[in-house]
Amino acid sequence: MTPLLALLWASPTSAQTPSLSCKSHPLSPNWPSPSAWSTLNTTLSGRLLSPTPPGAPCHPSYPSVFSPSTCPALQTAWFTEAFHSSDPVSSYWPNFNNDSCLPDPRAPCSGRGFPAYVINATSAGDVKAGVDFARQYGVRLIVKNSGHDFVGRSSAPGALSIWVHYLRGMEEFKGGYELRGGGCKGRERVEGHVVRLGAGMQMLDVYRETGRMGRTVVGGNGRTVALGGFITGGGHSILAPRWGMAADRVVEVEVVRPDGEVVVVNECEGSELFWAVRGGGGSTFGVLTSISLLTIPSPAVTTLTFQFATTASNPSAFRAIASFVSAFPALADAGVSGYPIIFNSVPSTSDPSRLVSGVIGKLIMTDAPSNSTILGHLNPLFNSINTTYPGQFEFYTDVTSHSTFAAWYEENFDPSPVGYGSVMSSRLLDKEALTGNVTALQTALERFSAGGQATVYIVSGRGVFEAKPRGGGTAVNPGWRRAYVHATTSVTFPSLDRAARDAAVKKSNAYADGLRELAPGMGAYVNEASKYEPGNWQKTFWGDNYDRLLKLKRELDPNDVFWCQPCVGNERWQEVDDLLCRV
Ligand SMILES: Cc1cc2nc3c(=O)[nH]c(=O)nc-3n(C[C@H](O)[C@H](O)[C@H](O)COP(=O)(O)OP(=O)(O)OC[C@H]3O[C@@H](n4cnc5c(N)ncnc54)[C@H](O)[C@@H]3O)c2cc1C
Ligand SMILES: *[C@@H]1O[C@H](CO)[C@@H](O)[C@H](O)[C@H]1NC(C)=O
Ligand SMILES: *[C@@H]1O[C@H](CO)[C@@H](O)[C@H](O)[C@H]1NC(C)=O
Ligand SMILES: *[C@@H]1O[C@H](CO)[C@@H](O)[C@H](O)[C@H]1NC(C)=O
Ligand SMILES: *[C@@H]1O[C@H](CO)[C@@H](O)[C@H](O)[C@H]1NC(C)=O
Ligand SMILES: *[C@@H]1O[C@H](CO)[C@@H](O)[C@H](O)[C@H]1NC(C)=O
Ligand SMILES: *[C@@H]1O[C@H](CO)[C@@H](O)[C@H](O)[C@H]1NC(C)=O
Repeated sequence: MTPLLALLWASPTSAQTPSLSCKSHPLSPNWPSPSAWSTLNTTLSGRLLSPTPPGAPCHPSYPSVFSPSTCPALQTAWFTEAFHSSDPVSSYWPNFNNDSCLPDPRAPCSGRGFPAYVINATSAGDVKAGVDFARQYGVRLIVKNSGHDFVGRSSAPGALSIWVHYLRGMEEFKGGYELRGGGCKGRERVEGHVVRLGAGMQMLDVYRETGRMGRTVVGGNGRTVALGGFITGGGHSILAPRWGMAADRVVEVEVVRPDGEVVVVNECEGSELFWAVRGGGGSTFGVLTSISLLTIPSPAVTTLTFQFATTASNPSAFRAIASFVSAFPALADAGVSGYPIIFNSVPSTSDPSRLVSGVIGKLIMTDAPSNSTILGHLNPLFNSINTTYPGQFEFYTDVTSHSTFAAWYEENFDPSPVGYGSVMSSRLLDKEALTGNVTALQTALERFSAGGQATVYIVSGRGVFEAKPRGGGTAVNPGWRRAYVHATTSVTFPSLDRAARDAAVKKSNAYADGLRELAPGMGAYVNEASKYEPGNWQKTFWGDNYDRLLKLKRELDPNDVFWCQPCVGNERWQEVDDLLCRV
């Protein structure tokens, strides 16, 4: 950056100058000079990367990495979490990189949809250097952890990315935890078993490590879901209906703030920021580097794998499905949680020429008195479907047991493939929505699953309603405190087809209309939702917490060093093709 441009950038009127009303981009005149980047790299002891796009080994236009023998393996790895999680820039859903380098020699390949530079951060100091640089030069900043994000917040064209994947490590605090910070004098002691984890730690690692201690955490089901996005988004868990949400069990975090300060926040020191990072959204209030979590004793788990199905043309199919789903609040109150999935007019596995509808999934109970307890809760529902509704229903049930949660997880993690064009929409459902009018529920679920399938996960309940988070509250969507079910549906579409993508966005939003009407005011879970959620998305994702979050965002980040969509306080900027410009 030349001194003159630096001066312009610093002046308050610079926002009026067209080229400077956007964040700096590699093609902008105010992009930092090579020597500025090189100085940053020196500060980082060489940890600044300028990665080739992830599909490059399939493209002769990238001779340094092109390899006809590597390309086929890459094409297979593309559908796995591990690939995108270990790549510095790739997203699980390539549409969020604008499909700009697929592992297909026939597709275009450029770095255009990816960040320009990546900091391979291993310390809070590395993170701070990136935040300071982005703030100083007006460069667009993003934070990538695994790159899981269903709403595309962990990628942006021409940005500086802080890759927090290698913020790893775990410390155990067996006999209680001492909160850090002067504000905690005299009340620093937290009873319980605590682990302090790097924000790049992923679910599989955390379950394995805490499992060795006979403990576990309240966590997610995907293997590579990382703590940074999970905690900031207010993530859900199959254990939450009993133990509360993961965000409710955080005792302290270390954060690099937008002003570059590295702070440790908890209920008595920086308590407002501590409140916000537990559910207020990722890459908005700063970058979390470590998270201290209260663990729980590892429970024994009994699992019911089940399915019921009927011919899709059976007019009673969705009456049966709705009656089943309307039983979820009672099931959850009885200690059942899990991952049911509605399927709507999909080919039967035994006879693909026949279309079937029904529900499939896994339900669990923890520390149940016997292995048959769970069937005792479900059999009456299956019998009632069998006898109440006309037409033939087929049932499948299988009960297994695991003596620890870690052992359960090794066999029951979420194995969903990734790596294709996908958009999602979702809704939280409370008892009123699920039981108030089952006819209305039926219509809404049929519409919601019109694309073939929809999840109706039982991941909230009494433990979430009665949770006592440190400091008196968290920023998670208040809808969670009444919800029993988190319902999602995804629409997939072919890559490189913008019309198909736009149609998919419309479709997925429309699928959720019935549930929006059925559960007004419940909102949705920001990490698994539509990036293009219609209407007042601020209210949808944060409810009555939004105004408080916005106030903090303006105080902590007056110049919007952090920006993403859908994220608190992003209203002053908009994406214009590859640029991020003032509204
Ligand atoms: C197969 C699969 C299974 C899943 N299972 C579950 C589940 O059981 N429960 C659940 O709640 N969710 C689940 N998810 C969704 C998951 O929680 C979100 O995708 C979440 O955003 C992942 O966080 P991440 O850090 O791994 O991802 P990223 O895409 O890297 O990050 C997500 C967001 O968090 C921000 N972020 C990441 N790290 C930090 C940090 N250290 N500081 C500040 N901001 C940060 C990013 O900038 C971005 O905005 C699943 C997703 C998949 C694909
Ligand atoms: C940063 O420095 C390291 C070590 O000197 C070097 O390997 C790397 O290529 C540099 N990064 C960039 C983006 O130039
Ligand atoms: C990032 O840093 C980690 C930890 O030092 C290292 O193992 C990894 O190879 C680095 N990745 C890249 C792409 O440089
Ligand atoms: C469940 O069954 C397993 C063997 O399949 C057994 O080891 C375990 O003790 C049983 N659990 C209960 C609670 O009865
Ligand atoms: C359903 O009803 C049929 C016929 O009455 C019976 O044979 C079958 O066992 C029932 N299945 C269940 C799960 O109740
Ligand atoms: C239940 O919903 C249906 C369809 O949405 C509606 O027609 C009916 O009037 C509702 N019933 C009650 C009691 O509100
Ligand atoms: C994405 O790619 C398309 C086609 O190459 C291009 O027109 C568009 O500007 C790119 N960027 C965004 C943000 O859509």
